[in-house]
Amino acid sequence: MLKIENLCKNYGAFQAVNNLSLHIPKGEIFGFVGPNGAGKTTTMKIVCGLLTATSGKVFIDNIDVSNNLRTLKSRIGYMPDFFGVYDDLKVMEYLEFYASIYNIKGKEREKVCKDLLELVDLSDKKDVYVDTLSRGMKQRLCLARSLVHNPDLLVLDEPASGMDPRARVEMKEILRTLKSMGKTILVSSHILPELAELCTIIGIIEKGHILMSGTVDEIVQKVYHSQRIRIKVLNKLEEAVRILKEYPDVVEVNTAGENTIEANFKGDDAFMSALLMRLVQNNIPVISFNALDGNLEDIFMKVTATMEASI
Ligand SMILES: Nc1ncnc2c1ncn2[C@@H]1O[C@H](COP(=O)(O)OP(=O)(O)OP(=O)(O)O)[C@@H](O)[C@H]1O
Ligand SMILES: [Mg+2]
Repeated sequence: MLKIENLCKNYGAFQAVNNLSLHIPKGEIFGFVGPNGAGKTTTMKIVCGLLTATSGKVFIDNIDVSNNLRTLKSRIGYMPDFFGVYDDLKVMEYLEFYASIYNIKGKEREKVCKDLLELVDLSDKKDVYVDTLSRGMKQRLCLARSLVHNPDLLVLDEPASGMDPRARVEMKEILRTLKSMGKTILVSSHILPELAELCTIIGIIEKGHILMSGTVDEIVQKVYHSQRIRIKVLNKLEEAVRILKEYPDVVEVNTAGENTIEANFKGDDAFMSALLMRLVQNNIPVISFNALDGNLEDIFMKVTATMEASI
């Protein structure tokens, strides 16, 4: 649905986006994760037609954004990373104002705004001044604002930044609801684990490049070239470690705490169950034996560090 091809953006001599390509099929949530200055906001603004690319193309359903902005604007909902002053508007008035910009009138406008406030859980704040909302509430209102014209592509620049843990969970819930409504979503964050459980595809960006993209599982596989397990034992930790190390396909065995082992292995689920059986047959009192997603923060650091070295 959204296709970015060889996108470049220079600010003077500085190249902020460098030959970036990505594809988001309809109905997917694409997580754009990268450190400060990686080029996320720049890319998102180009997608929304707020910045002009130096070179490269952006297509929505194969229509070139740069030549068809008027038609496509109504299909894009953009939530910026910073949002400005609100003057003396109340929450409902604020949304109605944005709806009116999109020429949504009368009863329909009333319904759209009411439904959106419900979606972002701000119905009980409809008559308070926007300025008095907490930061997290303002962010939810800003998300509602980006939805007034019922766009099918959402470009959300760090929608959860600065939110407390509960508000982050709620924001994720809202995004899941939007996905279930069929929206296609490009969402950015600095935090890979936060996006991992929400997004169907992740793209790791640094210095204007996509370093790696795919499902979380694919990225874990690419980085570790193996699966990761965590084993907890009641005792006999050292014996368990020794048994695991007998297998050439168990490539890394570390103890993590008194009774915990983390190991990487090259193999499938059958191999994993054979490992468990071997431990138990050797009278190792196994308490738990789990496949791990991998420490995503660790993966993120690894990907950005390794790739940086090779650029
Ligand atoms: N208007 C501008 N003029 C010059 N340089 C800019 C401009 N806007 C952004 N840059 C530079 O381009 C690079 C990418 O910035 P961008 O805002 O896209 O990064 P980001 O990934 O969104 O970072 P953050 O996580 O901090 O939001 C940065 O090095 C930034 O300094
Ligand atoms: Mg940014």
